[in-house]
Amino acid sequence: MVRRALSAIFALATLATTILADSAKCGPGNLCPKETPCCGQYGDCGVGAFCLGGCDPLFSATLDSCVPNPTCKGGDYSLDSLDDVQDISLYLGDASKINWQSQGKTVAYPPKDPNSLLLTMAEGTVGSLLASTHYVWYGKICATMTTSQGKGVVTAFIMMSDVRDEIDFEWIGVDINNAQSNYYSQGVTVYTNANNLTVSPNTVEKLHEYCIDWKPDALTWSVDGKDMRTVQKKETWNSTSNRFDYPQTPSRIMLSLWPAGLATNGKGTIDWAGGVIDWNSKYMQNGYYFARVQSITVDCYDPPSGAKINGKKSYKYTGTAGTNDTIQITDDLVVLGSLMGTGENPGEAPKSDAPEPTATVAMVPGGNPGGGGRQETPASVALSAGQTSAGGDTTQINPTAGANSGTFVQGTTNPSTGASMQPGLGKISGSALAIVLAVLGLCVL
Ligand SMILES: *[C@@H]1O[C@H](CO)[C@@H](O)[C@H](O)[C@H]1NC(C)=O
Ligand SMILES: *[C@@H]1O[C@H](CO)[C@@H](O)[C@H](O)[C@H]1NC(C)=O
Ligand SMILES: *[C@@H]1O[C@H](CO)[C@@H](O)[C@H](O)[C@H]1NC(C)=O
Repeated sequence: MVRRALSAIFALATLATTILADSAKCGPGNLCPKETPCCGQYGDCGVGAFCLGGCDPLFSATLDSCVPNPTCKGGDYSLDSLDDVQDISLYLGDASKINWQSQGKTVAYPPKDPNSLLLTMAEGTVGSLLASTHYVWYGKICATMTTSQGKGVVTAFIMMSDVRDEIDFEWIGVDINNAQSNYYSQGVTVYTNANNLTVSPNTVEKLHEYCIDWKPDALTWSVDGKDMRTVQKKETWNSTSNRFDYPQTPSRIMLSLWPAGLATNGKGTIDWAGGVIDWNSKYMQNGYYFARVQSITVDCYDPPSGAKINGKKSYKYTGTAGTNDTIQITDDLVVLGSLMGTGENPGEAPKSDAPEPTATVAMVPGGNPGGGGRQETPASVALSAGQTSAGGDTTQINPTAGANSGTFVQGTTNPSTGASMQPGLGKISGSALAIVLAVLGLCVL
């Protein structure tokens, strides 16, 4: 498999300068077509990795297009090597083999005697992203980490569900004494939910432990063991949408470093992030900005009372409301045979003498190193919070986002393919981290 993927990469390299047609977009009122049934986390349709983590069941061709979400796996994940990290273009859905997926460049630190990983962001890239392969449906998730520093540089630790419920810690590189906390329900950007949490000493020089304690009825952010903010589910009732605007669906753990302050982003986004990024900054080392992640701990809570339980291996959506009561716990697990697979047709692993895939479909959100002709490119991230963004020809991930004042891109150029990979996360918020929508065509030039 590895050799095959590599040969596909080389084949793709020759296509690097080809700009392929945009793939279908997905979002409210706009489901993916049968040929590319999966609505990836950046709002475009594809197969393969589009059907894995971040695949939105509500906008995919059917509820079975996205593969079921592997259930919560508790433990202490000490991120002291890249052994448990796999590039998104190599992951086919077997969460029993690998706990973290990456986009962009993650490096072991220090180089000789690593005890952490660095998320890096060099000029010309859109930073990096680490996402868990397992989902959490309520639990206590803690990250021991430092943040990056500098104008326009944003570090994030968030929980994000496939229907875009989100719980955030975000750090703006010009404010190293605060973490911004926020939460979203189904991607609806409500700017008034953001809140600053003081961190002392600062977030850059010292490792701190940031925890999200997510229960069915309350959500607490804490720093170094001290509770800083609690939101009760009952306070979040929204009579317009007729549901609790409370994160309530299985979510992945994501850590990222991204360039909110790209000059091409919207003014609101750049201002929120403290200005345009300086790519000759004293805060860069080895040519990149960086944030250090030492460990992540996960304590899985029992399924909520009333949950539909028919197994214990995966979470599946049984309806399109995207709320807690449309989640079922099952034993259905799907591992794709190749990046041409989908939840409905996972496919077989290609035989070694089979021809290279020739289909021109998108297989990896933000890039397609695994073969096939589709080269997707940039990623644009939509921010939210008072300064939402989404841009240009970007598909808005956030179904109900209001005015978008900016756009930014998160992704990174993959040197071996010429394809641009985008790490992103969801929608962002003035803080939230939201991250990303993938946009085709932005960086292709
Ligand atoms: C958080 O602090 C920053 C400055 O450090 C400020 O610009 C922002 O308005 C604050 N946000 C909230 C929600 O208070
Ligand atoms: C309630 O939900 C609607 C529709 O999603 C959204 O536009 C509005 O901002 C929400 N209201 C509050 C107070 O969050
Ligand atoms: C879903 O949320 C509603 C409203 O808070 C609650 O009554 C119900 O028990 C929850 N169901 C599950 C399965 O969590």
